[in-house]
Amino acid sequence: MFNAARLRGGCFGNPHSDNPTSSASTELVERTRAAILRHFNASPREYAVIFMPNATGACRLVGESYPFRPGSRLVLTIDNHNSANGIREFAQSRGAVVQYVPVHPPELRTGTDEIRAALTRRRRRRGLLVFPAQSNFTGVQHPLSWIELAHEHGYDVLLDAAAYVPANPLDLGEVHPDFVPVSWYKVFGYPTGVGCLLARWEALARLNRPWFAGGTIQTASALGGWHVLAEDETAFEDGTLNFLSIPDVEAGLSRVSGIGIDLIHQRVTCLTGWLLDRLRDMRHAGGSPLIRLYGPQGTVRRGGTVAFNVLTPQGKVADERIVARDATARRISVRTGCFCNPGAAEGAFTITEKALTRSVGRARTLDDHLRLLGLPSGGAVRASLGVVSNLRDVERLVAFLEETYRDRTPDDRGLRPRERC
Ligand SMILES: Cc1ncc(COP(=O)(O)O)c(C=O)c1O
Repeated sequence: MFNAARLRGGCFGNPHSDNPTSSASTELVERTRAAILRHFNASPREYAVIFMPNATGACRLVGESYPFRPGSRLVLTIDNHNSANGIREFAQSRGAVVQYVPVHPPELRTGTDEIRAALTRRRRRRGLLVFPAQSNFTGVQHPLSWIELAHEHGYDVLLDAAAYVPANPLDLGEVHPDFVPVSWYKVFGYPTGVGCLLARWEALARLNRPWFAGGTIQTASALGGWHVLAEDETAFEDGTLNFLSIPDVEAGLSRVSGIGIDLIHQRVTCLTGWLLDRLRDMRHAGGSPLIRLYGPQGTVRRGGTVAFNVLTPQGKVADERIVARDATARRISVRTGCFCNPGAAEGAFTITEKALTRSVGRARTLDDHLRLLGLPSGGAVRASLGVVSNLRDVERLVAFLEETYRDRTPDDRGLRPRERC
């Protein structure tokens, strides 16, 4: 039952007390945990669902609690959202070694051999491998077989599933990542402010929470200076849960299972294929391409995230702010920039470490930084396809690009400074 009907029909209080309004909330929250486990075919004996405000909160929880110390290693694909990249700050500050594994053109993938080599490097303690199941920049779907590989090498795995689960089945009976961050608004568009960390009980037992809070403990003493964490997943949930919105996740999941995640996957794949075909085929009258695509050009092992730049008839990259401005005028929402994934952007625009070092400390604004790097634009343009997208959306985007930019030099007057990448 969605929010309005449920709120009209019941009275709900803060969960985990013994009173009718509290019990009503507790029951719905627990039902939602069970629905999430079912959705991912995860056994409650193996996995816990920890409610978080979003995927970022889930990454932070793992980062701040993971037992990083000298002798342990954090391995990340360079293709990671900043919410996963941020884990490195916890690792570095506690003396762990951090290693990024690069992506390579043309598809901007990472080789399994490179992951294996990184996992094989000498270490004295358990390590953590962090990678996205689907890149939020290129749409690349990284191999889930890396999970088992990492386990064989004594690593835990954080599989960032935020961009993957909206249109792909994730079977946690088949693959067994230790930590899986998810944001639910990415799956059904609503509710915001509700995400979760799916975590293996065994891996959770290795985490050390650096603090406690209301809701996380069985008991604590102010005078005595001690506390005892709760024995279940609530040890990782801080304060009052978003108990009025969490039940909407159960409703959303039942909508998804009504359609079928495999059907959603198929539909998004078809739409992505059509969009990629059209973008690849677009040409100026002189025959030069109108679009430069980043990442895989076809639908094999990739999702519905399509990143590109518009090219002028002279073959120059058009400033991404022009495309954002013109698309907005046509009421089309595209995202521009590096999409909080600087590593994939550095791979896509072949930015070298040397160039990056050159700009450190010299750039005062994002525009300065881009100038020092010698980049023609501040990033790419991204169109994302999902369960609500249809063929008309694809056709409208294609028509907009053709009508606005074919055989024309884009008008770059009046662009405002960039504020974030
Ligand atoms: C792959 C990936 N990971 C993590 C995040 C962070 O999600 P949120 O901002 O909902 O916490 C995003 C958001 O776009 C993402 O695409």
